[in-house]
Amino acid sequence: MTKYLEILDDQLELIKRSRRIVVSRIQEAIARRGICTIALAGGSTPKPLYEKLAQENLPWEQIHIFWGDERYVPADHPDSNQRMARQAWLDQVPMPPNNIHPMPTDAADPYLDAATYDATLRAFFGDQTWPAFDIILLGMGDDGHTASLFPQTAALAVSDRLITVGEKQGEPRLTFTVPLINAAHHIIFLVAGHNKQEALQQIFHSEADGFAYPSKLIEPDHGILWWLLDAAAGDRLTPHDTIYQTNPHPALQNKTILSPVPIPRS
Ligand code: 6PG
Repeated sequence: MTKYLEILDDQLELIKRSRRIVVSRIQEAIARRGICTIALAGGSTPKPLYEKLAQENLPWEQIHIFWGDERYVPADHPDSNQRMARQAWLDQVPMPPNNIHPMPTDAADPYLDAATYDATLRAFFGDQTWPAFDIILLGMGDDGHTASLFPQTAALAVSDRLITVGEKQGEPRLTFTVPLINAAHHIIFLVAGHNKQEALQQIFHSEADGFAYPSKLIEPDHGILWWLLDAAAGDRLTPHDTIYQTNPHPALQNKTILSPVPIPRS
């Protein structure tokens, strides 16, 4: 397992950097396997990234889009993660409709919809116990939650299926389980804003509790974990706080802790 942590100067640089990393991972997956599978994050932070990806010239017919979590609302609801990604990216490019695999939210029973999506993934990936996505994009809430895996909830301990029902203040959500996320080749966290500082400090402290800060449970089995932060989020992190190797890049000495990056900055 390899982990990279990068602290970028601001949100614009964060989006520019994440665009570069995501595009290069898409190209790498297509070169290796002919297709690329990506699971998208919801929330506000990834939206400008999706808008930038809509400007890319990629082989859309070889890219399959899934969601890592979804609010339990209709697909045309303003809170829908599917709706956000379609408007920002997917509706702007010639991606074949069958390459877009949204989480269902219309069975009026989140457990039924979770089982349906579980079956969708198993049908797509074949008999892999834990299907390995090429890329899983994640955000993080100021309470340390990720996808719809919230602190101290039952969803955190689910390890016998791919999709489960998360719960935010009593509201159901569909979400990838921790083992499914950790099976991915590349897990990319995008985190912005100083309201995330406290949770990040907890997560980068080795003894932090994963049930209190669920993003701490995201440790890829064999893949690469990328933490991409803006300075506002990562400001309180200092080298000795982290469990990552320091970067030899002089200009980034204090603010970025990562091992040599396989993707040039510019
Ligand atoms: C969701 C997300 C959730 C999100 C965090 C961060 O459906 O809301 O998947 O996990 O990533 O809440 O949200 P922001 O990017 O808006 O801070």
